[in-house]
Amino acid sequence: MSVFGTRPEAIKMAPVVKAIEDNHDLLEQVVVVTGQHRQMLDQVLKIFEVVPDYDLEIMQANQTIASVVARCLQGLEPLILDEKPDLMLVQGDTSTAFAAGLAAFYYKIPLGHVEAGLRTFDKWRPFPEEMNRQLLTDLTDLHFPPTASARQNLLAENVMPEKIALTGNTVIDALFKVSQRPYDLAATGIKIDPKKKLLTVTAHRRELFGQPIKDVCAAIKRLAEQFSSEIYFVIPVHKNPQVREVIQTTLGNSANIQLIEPLDYEPFIHLMKASYLILTDSGGVQEEAPSLGKPVLVMREKTERPEAIEAGTVKLVGISEENIYQETVRLLTDEQAYRQMTQAVNPYGDGQAAERTVGFILHYFGLSDRKPEEFGAKIMSSR
Ligand code: UD1
Ligand code: UDP
Repeated sequence: MSVFGTRPEAIKMAPVVKAIEDNHDLLEQVVVVTGQHRQMLDQVLKIFEVVPDYDLEIMQANQTIASVVARCLQGLEPLILDEKPDLMLVQGDTSTAFAAGLAAFYYKIPLGHVEAGLRTFDKWRPFPEEMNRQLLTDLTDLHFPPTASARQNLLAENVMPEKIALTGNTVIDALFKVSQRPYDLAATGIKIDPKKKLLTVTAHRRELFGQPIKDVCAAIKRLAEQFSSEIYFVIPVHKNPQVREVIQTTLGNSANIQLIEPLDYEPFIHLMKASYLILTDSGGVQEEAPSLGKPVLVMREKTERPEAIEAGTVKLVGISEENIYQETVRLLTDEQAYRQMTQAVNPYGDGQAAERTVGFILHYFGLSDRKPEEFGAKIMSSR
């Protein structure tokens, strides 16, 4: 039973769902969406042609974390009793993932955790995601860390090595699926100006609610005004009203800032490809952009994704207006600093993560003798 509910979970679970379907002779799958996100989830289901068996339809406007967890738990209980899964699979660190992990525990169902082991070691950053994934680790029987450092985090918390399988991140499987296909961005209504540099921005984290999102918008406005003849911003605005209202109020009337609805996954990847620079607080975008050779400024105090920072394509710039402004100006004016960040690197995956995940599941159930080779194993052994 695969359970997910938000946009990023759907993007990262779609390749796993498909890989399980490919093994239908050995595995029977039940796909449950909680509907924690409604429109943003449905966009992804459509693109990846995933048809859920159950939809809990839990989303409410301005929902609280506690209410999401409660509705997920209550919705999952009868499904678990009916379907009696041999394994439940969750992804990442959302309220849906945590609630489904807890439900699995209450019914003594083994739990697999896709994208396990990410850590900032600060329980408030990101909130509530850091605590969700730490708690999920305690609930999990099969851990699928995407990177060697995520695996190391699990080992340091005394997770038994035989319960860990290093897979790479399934987001790169999803990215590879759509990034090669040609796409006409103009068809989405985005106004592309070949004479100017395109800067893409996304923001949604709870740490930005209140003054921080106002500061982020102030930095963007300042940049848009100061560099009006050289740059323009495209901002697909997240559906969360806490960030949406501030962005629309502060940036809605600027000539070189285009606010648009959340994009479908495929056009969003092509928007990233067309960008000069990306400013974001998103986890998934931090993982995708390095593969596309696009510099990313991460508007957060801490990140659980150190790999692309170490590789030099991502920089953590905090959430103060001045810092975001200064770091962006640097990449607009210092050619060498910019070029150093444009090298395409792929620390997060090789496009085989879902296949590996399912290979480990088959091995776990004794349905296959062969354990898949772990992500990065070839690179490491050839050094
Ligand atoms: C959630 C996750 C976060 C993840 C993010 C991905 C939690 C606590 N948070 O945050 O970890 O990074 O998704 O985007 O699990 N809304 C809509 N339509 C949608 C989606 C959201 O209207 O399709 C609005 C609703 O008013 C909803 C609100 O956004 O109540 C917040 O959604 P929620 O899932 O609670 O939080 P996110 O900020 O989206
Ligand atoms: N994304 C998308 N459309 C958009 C913005 C982002 O499809 O308009 C994709 C993006 O490519 C990435 C994922 O959504 O795969 C990230 O989701 P989000 O930032 O909401 O969540 P996070 O990754 O921070 O949990």
